[in-house]
Amino acid sequence: MNDMKELLQGILADALDQLKADDAQPDQIRVRFLGKKGDLTAVLRGMGSLSPEERPAIGQLANEVRTQIENAIEKRQTELNDKKLKSKLLAERVDVTVPGEEFAVGHQHPLTLVRRELEDIFLGLGFSIAEGPEVEYDYYNFQALNIPENHPARDTQDTFYITDKILLRSQTSPVQARVMEKQKPPIRIISPGRVYRSDDVDATHSPLFHQFEGLVVDKGITMGDLKGVLELFAKTMFGEETRIRFRPHHFPFTEPSAEVDVSCFACGGKGCRFCKGEGWIEILGAGMVHPKVLSGCGIDPREYSGFAFGLGIERIALLKYHIDDMRLLYENDMRFLGQF
Ligand code: DAH
Repeated sequence: MNDMKELLQGILADALDQLKADDAQPDQIRVRFLGKKGDLTAVLRGMGSLSPEERPAIGQLANEVRTQIENAIEKRQTELNDKKLKSKLLAERVDVTVPGEEFAVGHQHPLTLVRRELEDIFLGLGFSIAEGPEVEYDYYNFQALNIPENHPARDTQDTFYITDKILLRSQTSPVQARVMEKQKPPIRIISPGRVYRSDDVDATHSPLFHQFEGLVVDKGITMGDLKGVLELFAKTMFGEETRIRFRPHHFPFTEPSAEVDVSCFACGGKGCRFCKGEGWIEILGAGMVHPKVLSGCGIDPREYSGFAFGLGIERIALLKYHIDDMRLLYENDMRFLGQF
């Protein structure tokens, strides 16, 4: 009987000892000591050899040993879990005081900035935006604008042809005809967009560039309205002191036609390097919509009149930001674009 007691106490001591180890495996210890083939079970099996008087005491001791081992296993398991969690949290710790990684935020391209500014000015005057296709019919790009086949104006606007009758539009003016065909006056639209010409690339030319068209048609529209609108536009775009000047010109789709200059916003009109000593800078073409263009689009020129204008967005961007080479606008060099 004393042998049994010692054996049980030995088992308890062994179990507690093994649980203490740093790398203790409580589950395995449970199996080894308390499992079906475990040490304690083996002792209990041997109880048959005891006398009936001895059995209760040993039985009780065996139960106590079982309970103690179970409790110790449980406690150790909790301890080990805590330790594991702590080291995991430590390893995964986020240091919120580490300075963040800087990432670059983009911004609008100078051409977009200028287009938006132009749009804002004219939307504020009650214009709305009209769009037209870049792949256009010869009819709208030329014929509807009073530029028949073999007209010399086609030379300066040589473009890319898809077929004899379909081309990449060389100007935004065809949108005028498309709008007038569909919409009865009053008409007040602007139309920004890409245009194409078969030009070689250099500091002032590109086979793809952007224009901005304007058209107003209503009863009693005069050149005074055109002047008033363009003057307001020039002052908003280039500064309150800006003046405008009309020079006679020729466009097939307007009569009369003018080229419009603004007083140089670098020198105020005295003449400087920027305006090449002129005091004036040319910025757009304009005029009163030709009666033939109106009637060709189903609008009676005896009842209605209108004005139109067209400008190059690149040209405005170059002037506004003092850029001396148009190619910079298309090369996507971050050293250049980052300056806007
Ligand atoms: N479309 C012309 C060009 O590309 C510019 C222009 C001139 C547009 C006079 C107009 C206008 O609407 O009235 O050269």
